[in-house]
Amino acid sequence: MRRFLLILLLLSIFSVFSPASLAADIDNSAKIFEINCAGCHPHGGNIIRRGKNLSLRALHRNKLDSLEAIAILVTNGKNNMPAYQDRLTEKEIKEVSAYVLEQAKISWK
Ligand code: HEC
Repeated sequence: MRRFLLILLLLSIFSVFSPASLAADIDNSAKIFEINCAGCHPHGGNIIRRGKNLSLRALHRNKLDSLEAIAILVTNGKNNMPAYQDRLTEKEIKEVSAYVLEQAKISWK
């Protein structure tokens, strides 16, 4: 009986906290994007090189449709895109890369 109550307690704690913390994470990666990326990539576009936008189609064409590939690009930069290794932590780079992929999948709506 005690164990049952404990499980119930744990479940209720998780159900209260996990959706909120998940939402916070999405908010955070959206914020990282707004601050660091949206200047050149508004709504997933690219104001410098139009073909290199963040639509799923362009990412696929440029072989950047995976979390790893985007994270490497963001870390090291490329041509006119700055490197973020000194500005964002590894965790933030992963988060913002995941955000890009997620948004690309829903067409930046
Ligand atoms: C100063 C403008 C600028 C900023 C700021 C910027 N980018 Fe870029 N981004 C570019 C340019 C230019 C390219 C094209 C690079 C190339 O020549 O392949 C690019 C390419 C990309 C690509 C590949 C797109 C494709 O279809 O090939 C991704 C993904 C990307 N950027 C994500 C980001 C993320 C995430 C951030 C923020 C952490 C960011 N960018 C910030 C200019 C920028």
